[in-house]
Amino acid sequence: MKKEQLQYPPLPAKVTGRLLRWYDAHRRSLPWRESADPYRVWVSEIMLQQTRVAAVLPYYRQWMEELPDVAALAAVEEDRLMKLWEGLGYYSRARNLQRAAKVIMKDRGGRFPDTFEGLRALPGIGDYTAGAVASIAFGRRVPAVDGNVLRIAARLSASGEDILSPGGRRMFTAMVADLVPPDRPGDFNQALMDLGATVCLPNGQPDCKSCPLAALCAAHAAGRETEFPVKRKKAERRQEELTVYVLLREGKVALRRREDRGLLAGLWEFPHCPGTLSEEEAAAPLAAWGLTPVQWRQKAAARHIFTHVEWRMTGYVLEVRGEGSGLTWAGPEELERYAVPSAFGKYWKMAKEAL
Ligand code: ADE
Repeated sequence: MKKEQLQYPPLPAKVTGRLLRWYDAHRRSLPWRESADPYRVWVSEIMLQQTRVAAVLPYYRQWMEELPDVAALAAVEEDRLMKLWEGLGYYSRARNLQRAAKVIMKDRGGRFPDTFEGLRALPGIGDYTAGAVASIAFGRRVPAVDGNVLRIAARLSASGEDILSPGGRRMFTAMVADLVPPDRPGDFNQALMDLGATVCLPNGQPDCKSCPLAALCAAHAAGRETEFPVKRKKAERRQEELTVYVLLREGKVALRRREDRGLLAGLWEFPHCPGTLSEEEAAAPLAAWGLTPVQWRQKAAARHIFTHVEWRMTGYVLEVRGEGSGLTWAGPEELERYAVPSAFGKYWKMAKEAL
């Protein structure tokens, strides 16, 4: 990027020192901060995308116990990988972790790239993750800019640039990049993450009384901190209606594997079909699967919100006869082993109780 082409007001240089002093006193004690092992840092950063620290902690611990290094990740079976990720959502993150691990093993003899550009070239690693791993694990002087950091930069500068536009993102990234200190780039980036997670909170709730940067913050000085960041309106989420079947037969429940492409690719699900079907209407797809209803037991609605789509589900728990084409029958213990996404959580519980 040619720096001189980008015009922007710099953030105050004092931000860096104040932020690092605050971090030294308040840093959160987190398992991925115990070492600078690039594998551990990388996995934590991928898990932490779109997911809060508290939700990540148990997954991270179990993952590191079972897959302590990049060789173990490259070698693990796909179903086990999905199971370790189950509940974190955005499953392509886990698949990309393994794809990158395989590249590192095969092409690089198990050694991580140690530059921003080298990391950026791996599957699933974007600017943010490359910046985070390069700075935290390798001490490179690069920023790691995610939504939290964009919010902080927008408030500090009181700039009305849209943080979701490519131009706005570039500008705020450049402002932050100028402040990254050569001696502690990883701490600086993590200090911003902590500030965004605990003080400079989103949705109009910043805790400016606790903020080490309040005296340097243009939005705070103007009493306008809740007006930043500016974001364009998001596209509306598509609504999809689904009828979900919890099919019971001889102490087992029917599961089916999703296609290898698209939403929740390759995970396991309860059979379902489009639309909100009444009990009478819901019998027709059963016949098409080669099943005959024996007893309808329960009906329950559920919703699940993904980034671009919302599922409105109507589910039936029923006993059936017949083989069922394309279905896998799982008993109570087996059900635990299949990675069934949390979108089906309500039906998973009902299946568990019915078995
Ligand atoms: N969020 C994203 N990366 C993080 C990190 N390294 N520490 C704390 N929160 C984070």
